[in-house]
Amino acid sequence: MVFEIFLLIIIVLVALSIVYSTARLGISPMPSSTKAYQAMVTLIDETGSGTIVDLGSGWGNFVIPIAKRYPERQIVGYEMSLLPYLFSTLIKRVSGLKNLTLYRQDFLKANLSMASVLVCYLFPEAMDKIKNKLLLEKPGVEFLISNNFALPSWQFDKLIQLNDFYKSPVYLYRLDSGKGLID
Ligand SMILES: C[S@@+](CC[C@H](N)C(=O)[O-])C[C@H]1O[C@@H](n2cnc3c(N)ncnc32)[C@H](O)[C@@H]1O
Repeated sequence: MVFEIFLLIIIVLVALSIVYSTARLGISPMPSSTKAYQAMVTLIDETGSGTIVDLGSGWGNFVIPIAKRYPERQIVGYEMSLLPYLFSTLIKRVSGLKNLTLYRQDFLKANLSMASVLVCYLFPEAMDKIKNKLLLEKPGVEFLISNNFALPSWQFDKLIQLNDFYKSPVYLYRLDSGKGLID
C-alpha cells in the first residue's frame, strides 16, 4: 500500500512538472514522428559536417539517434523542461555519447554562434522569436530545419511533405548572408 501511494505521488509530480513547463514554454515535449525524423535526417545529410543544435531537445528522441548517426559531428540540445532534460542526460551518459552536449537553458538566450545547423519542432510564436533572434544577433548559422512550422518571412530552400494524414511539411532554410529573406 505504501509503495502504491509512493508511486502515485511520483506519477502526479511527473505529470505536474510536464504540465507546468508546457504551460510556461507553450509546447509539450512531444517528439517528432518517425517520418518527420527521417525527413530531417535526409535534409541534415545535405548540411556538411558542422555542429547541429536542436532548439528544444525534449526527451532526446532527436539528439540521441542523431549523435549516434553522426559521430564526427558535434550535437547540442537546449531544453528547459526539467524531466525531459534529466531523462535525455541520463540516456546520453548511459550511451556514452561524447559528441552530444545538453543544456538546461532557454535557447532564445543562448549564443548560437557555434551552430551550423539549427533543428526545431516548435510552434508559430517560437518560430517568430527565432527569426527575430537570427536577424538581431546574426550568429552565422548556415541552415535551419523545421518540423511542421515555417520560419516567417523566409523563403525555404527545400520542402519535404510527409506521407501522413496532414501532409506535414519539413522545411530546410539556408540562412547564410540573409539569403531567402522575403520581407
Ligand atoms: C515538440 S518538442 C520537440 C522535441 C525534439 N526536438 C524532437 O523533435 O523530437 C519541443 C521542446 O522544446 C522545448 N522548448 C520550448 N521552448 C523552449 C525554449 N525557449 N528553450 C528551451 N527549450 C524549449 C519544450 O520544452 C519541448 O520539450
